[in-house]
Amino acid sequence: MSESTSIHGQWSSRLVFVLAATGSAVGLGNIWKFPYITGEYGGGAFVLVYLGCILLVGLPVMIAEILLGRRGRQSPINTMRMLASAQGVSPAWSWLGWAGVITGFLILSFYSVIAGWAISYAWETFSGTFSGASAEEVGDVFGTLVSSPGQLLFYHTLFMLLTMYVVGRGVKQGLEKAVTILMPILAILLAIMVGYALAQGAAAEGLRFLFQPDFNAVFQKCTEESGTQVCTFTREPLLVALGHAFFTLSLGMGAIMVYGSYMPSNVSITRAALMVVAADTVIALFAGMAIFPLVFANGLEPGSGPGLIFQTLPIAFGQMPGGLLIGGLFFVLLVFAAWTSSISLIEPAAAYLVENKGMSRPLAASTVGGICWVLGIGTVLSFNLWSDYKLFDRTFFDLLDYLTANILLPLGGLFIAIFVGWISKRHLSESELSLSPGLFKAWWFVLRFLAPLGIFVIFLNAIGVV
Ligand code: TRP
Repeated sequence: MSESTSIHGQWSSRLVFVLAATGSAVGLGNIWKFPYITGEYGGGAFVLVYLGCILLVGLPVMIAEILLGRRGRQSPINTMRMLASAQGVSPAWSWLGWAGVITGFLILSFYSVIAGWAISYAWETFSGTFSGASAEEVGDVFGTLVSSPGQLLFYHTLFMLLTMYVVGRGVKQGLEKAVTILMPILAILLAIMVGYALAQGAAAEGLRFLFQPDFNAVFQKCTEESGTQVCTFTREPLLVALGHAFFTLSLGMGAIMVYGSYMPSNVSITRAALMVVAADTVIALFAGMAIFPLVFANGLEPGSGPGLIFQTLPIAFGQMPGGLLIGGLFFVLLVFAAWTSSISLIEPAAAYLVENKGMSRPLAASTVGGICWVLGIGTVLSFNLWSDYKLFDRTFFDLLDYLTANILLPLGGLFIAIFVGWISKRHLSESELSLSPGLFKAWWFVLRFLAPLGIFVIFLNAIGVV
């Protein structure tokens, strides 16, 4: 295992790895998905379970996933095959890489459609659509957008082209600069929004909803139905919190593994992982703090679903001084955040095509992006023409989201934990992490026992066994 660089290149420093991995982690998951699922699953208690999953499952699995990538120095498929034979187990472990490639396709197909919403909103905000608009008018703009397959398809196509462009050029170029400058600006803008929401919105109510756990609400799902909130018993919240921990940290499908494979050998994996997890969590909580005070101040339903941020933030942008500029910029940066995430979703597949099929990077990126684009048409239609076609009470988009975040990613994480914790030799991980003995033992214990058991129990819970 002495090979120390990848054929695809290498990040120039730890900072660049941390930025790239943070770029992958921070995205629509933090700003779009976290607030709306928190709203659906009743607030504080859900947030607490989510934070627990981040710390006890997400962080240890992230360390393991980076470790595998850096040890293998290839696309996840080839890395898993090679590491499995090095440990004398079946090369069928490369299936973990394949499953990740498929999961990445499925996620990007809908991710791109939602990122398209953000592009459309950047445009609408700058051009003054929301100036002085009431909550109702803002809601109508969202309704009009999602009911138009043509518009959704247009923005989905645009975003997919952006993604293919960067992956085609090589993740390192361009990306390094984009993440260094843009991510900090996004954080500052988000902080401004938090300040505004706390000052002008229903701060107390919003913060209580987000941070005060009400454990009676743990097994409830509340959604909006024709203007009123309906809550029903459900076993979903634990699974959704776990799934979102994976989704928001980009874990369980090889994205962080492939980024790890471009990581210099002398960089501390644990410290890098801690920074990524911290940044990701802060941004998600900020997003919640910016949105819920506005939700309550405007009499909106927290459980109104995937449109939540698009129906709340523009109200503030339309009212605050300089709001159209700040708001437009906010959505532009949201698109950038989504962009630095989306490239990591297809990088594992693109790296594989370059390694095994001898494709050029642009060809590999277009091939993979093309597949995701076609799949994305299903999500486009699920908001309008197909909105009544449901399976298990879910639209095509809901199904994809549920299957990937709540099932495929945690399963991928489970197998990563098993591979590093039970199949790889302990001393390999010990020497690569170079932690103090106490810290190493703590990580080793959590990775071998707590994380896999946690995932397993939450799965059992979701199907009603425990
Ligand atoms: N983490 C990103 C977000 O929060 C999405 C993402 C990028 C992702 N790469 C991933 C999710 C890999 C799962 C797996 O928006």
